Amino acid sequence: MRTKLIAGNWKMNGRKPMVRELIAGILSRLDVNQRSEVMVLPPFPYIPLVNSLLDATPVLLGAQDLSRHDSGAYTGEVAGGMLADVGCSHVLVGHSERRSLHGEDNALVAAKFNAAQAAGLQPVLCVGETLDERSAGRTDEVVSGQIAAVLEAAGVAAFGRAIVAYEPVWAIGTGQTASPEQAQSVHAMIRAQIAKEDATIAGRLRILYGGSVKPDNAADLFAREDIDGGLIGGASLTAEAFMGIYQAAG
Ligand code: PGA
Repeated sequence: MRTKLIAGNWKMNGRKPMVRELIAGILSRLDVNQRSEVMVLPPFPYIPLVNSLLDATPVLLGAQDLSRHDSGAYTGEVAGGMLADVGCSHVLVGHSERRSLHGEDNALVAAKFNAAQAAGLQPVLCVGETLDERSAGRTDEVVSGQIAAVLEAAGVAAFGRAIVAYEPVWAIGTGQTASPEQAQSVHAMIRAQIAKEDATIAGRLRILYGGSVKPDNAADLFAREDIDGGLIGGASLTAEAFMGIYQAAG
């Protein structure tokens, strides 16, 4: 049985007062009877503060991006080793905003995936199709291509130390959620793709859904066989909404 994971991608939001309030709100709503895990993904500058606020709690800490390089003359970049050094255990790679706004292609995403693992971080590999791609009936082709690029570069064993997040681009921040059937169908396809190479790793792999998850639509999504939690953007910015989603995960 895969433990569900509720991960909050804060994106570029918040200042210190909000960070403190949000973490306090999350911690006060943690429930020992819930099996699900919680992760927060703050902007880089707040990682040390969040790490200290989370001290001795089960909440996981991740970053939103990393460099493909380990160190050197890469002004403005942040290495995976630095993220591990300041307390992160996870990092997003290939979020659709990185792919579309910062020109990250499958090859760069695969390099970042490998860089994360080399630094001892678990990558959360984000994949998903645009509205045009879905309308053209290309969803499976696009998503399986995004997965294949990483499988090729990292090998299937690497998926034993990774998480996948399916985030249809048309559902991110739009209020338009994929239906549980739409999401389940892509999640099952991803798991089958990994299972072709290693059924055990595929069976253990957590595949999160992201794209306008809210407290009132979360339970239906999380009830599906291959949906192992959520990557939450907008609704992760208030503890009430975020932890409402956690409650829905059981
Ligand atoms: P959203 O964002 O929940 O605001 O749609 C999800 C994400 O981009 O990770």
